[in-house]
Amino acid sequence: GRSGGLVIAIDGPSGSGKSSTAKSVARARGLKYLDTGAMYRAMTWWMLENGVDVADAEAVAAAAGRPAITMGTDPDAPTVHVDGVDVGKVIRGDEVTSNVSAVSAVPRVRELLVARQREIIAEACASAPGIVVEGRDITTVVAPDAPVKLFLTASEEARAQRRSKEVRSGDVAATQAALARRDRLDSTRAVSPLTQTPDATKLDTTSLSLDEVIALVVKLADEARASA
Ligand code: DC
Repeated sequence: GRSGGLVIAIDGPSGSGKSSTAKSVARARGLKYLDTGAMYRAMTWWMLENGVDVADAEAVAAAAGRPAITMGTDPDAPTVHVDGVDVGKVIRGDEVTSNVSAVSAVPRVRELLVARQREIIAEACASAPGIVVEGRDITTVVAPDAPVKLFLTASEEARAQRRSKEVRSGDVAATQAALARRDRLDSTRAVSPLTQTPDATKLDTTSLSLDEVIALVVKLADEARASA
């Protein structure tokens, strides 16, 4: 295994409870935390900010190496910077959210960000007890050899409810439609689509509380550490 570091890989669609679970588990066990979705959002923000047509995959690929994306991996205060600018808030806006699937479908974007994600994981394993990494292709592409691999799901209704609360929107139907659209794009793209591998533990969180999910994942983490 990875010398001295525990990697917990969590994939799943939006609203499955990935982020809250990943952060809490990292906190509970003194691990670092990496939100890879924030990296795709940061890349998308930069493209929009710099007038790159996100529908033009070649233009996106050509520009993808230009932004310097820096991630802070403390689960109590995760940060995202692009060329030194704190973009933590702006990357959650509608503009980025509705364009991120197009940008993250570009192979060159994934190649660059996956390489960066692996560096962050290696560093966390060298300097800390390990890291919890969440996204869409962590169990399949970024860290397929992670000792703990999870696929979180929940019904579309439950996920839309949670997401509406997060973004403080009363329009659950609109949120559900946008979420369904993004899931479809993220699951059907050619490169590294959101997929469930048989060796990942599937956790349906529809009728579980966040605390129950966290407890389950902490237990898996402790078992993995004990058998390492
Ligand atoms: O987790 P999120 O909703 O913040 O992710 C934003 C988008 O980034 C999501 O629609 C798909 C993309 N993404 C990806 O392609 N691969 C990842 N590992 C994480 C996110």
